[in-house]
Amino acid sequence: MVAMLRQAVEVHQAGQLDAAEALYRRTLQMQAGQPDALHFLGVLCHQRGRSDEGIRLIRMALRAAPLHADAHNNLGNIHKETGKLADAEACYRQALAYNGQHHDALSNLALVLEAQQRFQEAFEAYAELLERAPRLSLAHYLMGMYLRRHVNEIGDLEHAVACFRNAVRCDGSNVRALDALGVTLYMLGRQDEAVGAYRDWLGREPDNPVPRHMLAACGGEAAPPRADDAYVREVFDRFAESFDEQLLKNLDYRAPQVLVDALIGVLGVAEGALDVLDAGCGTGLCGPLIRPHARRLDGVDLSGGMLEKARLRGGYDDLVAAELTAYLQDHPETWDVVLSADTLVYFGDLVEVLAATHAALRAGGRVAFTLEAMDADEDRSELSSSGRYRHARRYVERVLDAAGFVEVSIAASALRKEVGKPVAGWVVLARKSRRG
Ligand SMILES: C[S@@+](CC[C@H](N)C(=O)[O-])C[C@H]1O[C@@H](n2cnc3c(N)ncnc32)[C@H](O)[C@@H]1O
Repeated sequence: MVAMLRQAVEVHQAGQLDAAEALYRRTLQMQAGQPDALHFLGVLCHQRGRSDEGIRLIRMALRAAPLHADAHNNLGNIHKETGKLADAEACYRQALAYNGQHHDALSNLALVLEAQQRFQEAFEAYAELLERAPRLSLAHYLMGMYLRRHVNEIGDLEHAVACFRNAVRCDGSNVRALDALGVTLYMLGRQDEAVGAYRDWLGREPDNPVPRHMLAACGGEAAPPRADDAYVREVFDRFAESFDEQLLKNLDYRAPQVLVDALIGVLGVAEGALDVLDAGCGTGLCGPLIRPHARRLDGVDLSGGMLEKARLRGGYDDLVAAELTAYLQDHPETWDVVLSADTLVYFGDLVEVLAATHAALRAGGRVAFTLEAMDADEDRSELSSSGRYRHARRYVERVLDAAGFVEVSIAASALRKEVGKPVAGWVVLARKSRRG
């Protein structure tokens, strides 16, 4: 029986959920009420989307073994992930009551206190974790992230940098800490030091496209003409879950609304008659705004994670996972409108993508997109240390003209914030001539 339970845990950890579930259930047939089998089966049920069953099983385990700190902690995790923060908090406190050294339970407690906006208590919990486990890389990392998230409240970015450096010192393989260190140094304007962090990260993960791109962004390597597909996928698949909340709540993100307002200004009254492509649709924030004008609304994006969110939001006729330029090139004279919010900021060189957009529009069709503004009277773009590109007005005008666009308008607008400050952007509209 013990061997079977051990095997169940092994296959569970290997991600073979069917096999693990069968083995847990056989263990429970042999010994009804075995607390570990009940507990792990509960975790597995939650992983498979059967959270109520998971909670019921872990509660049964706890009736048999009330002092089981891991089971209390895992029950807390299910509550946390299903949004029941107060229940989660109670579970983590139980886990800590039975095992004061349960670092996972303490870090989880800090996270749910923060999620409940009890910031001082959360800070104290992160601090307690650091005090109890000063050599635990995760403890330094979590404190750094907390300080960065609350830079206007308690912490400061310098202190966050020190935390991330400590996290790396405790565990050199903690690349999440190197990632956070690079971003925080960039936020402080210390690009040279950020280059060091990204080099370190790349040295540990030579095939990872994220440190490679960020190294270029901070001036440590030559900038590519556009962000690599693998970089875009990696960043946005990871970001998909929290994208809407992060951008709308924390970064005051306005690109979809501002862009669609400008577009509607030239389209006029919504008649639901246009074929529209949302190019780099992400989680689909533009969809509901432009839908009243669309007879057909297509979305394309490189990130499967972002597309899944757009699918859940609904409103699109088709959502396709593809690279934008190639997708446009494969669809000549297909759309009346191509709109693109905050996506061409991942392109330094706009020549190919705008030529492909021109070809993908029907005669008289319109393109509408946002960019980050480079404040220079020059004809160029640059990769900034944020990892996104900035474009000078003259460059955008020249490339649109070369692609054959007419009726070009480029308006300045702040489209998001970064480190609490507005980021200058362009809202660009242009038209394909009616003669094709
Ligand atoms: C900042 S998000 C903006 C999403 C959406 N337009 C919005 O405003 O909410 C940028 C999106 O562009 C996508 N993207 C970037 N480069 C791309 C490319 N070359 N081809 C297709 N999608 C791309 C990313 O995957 C991401 O979903």
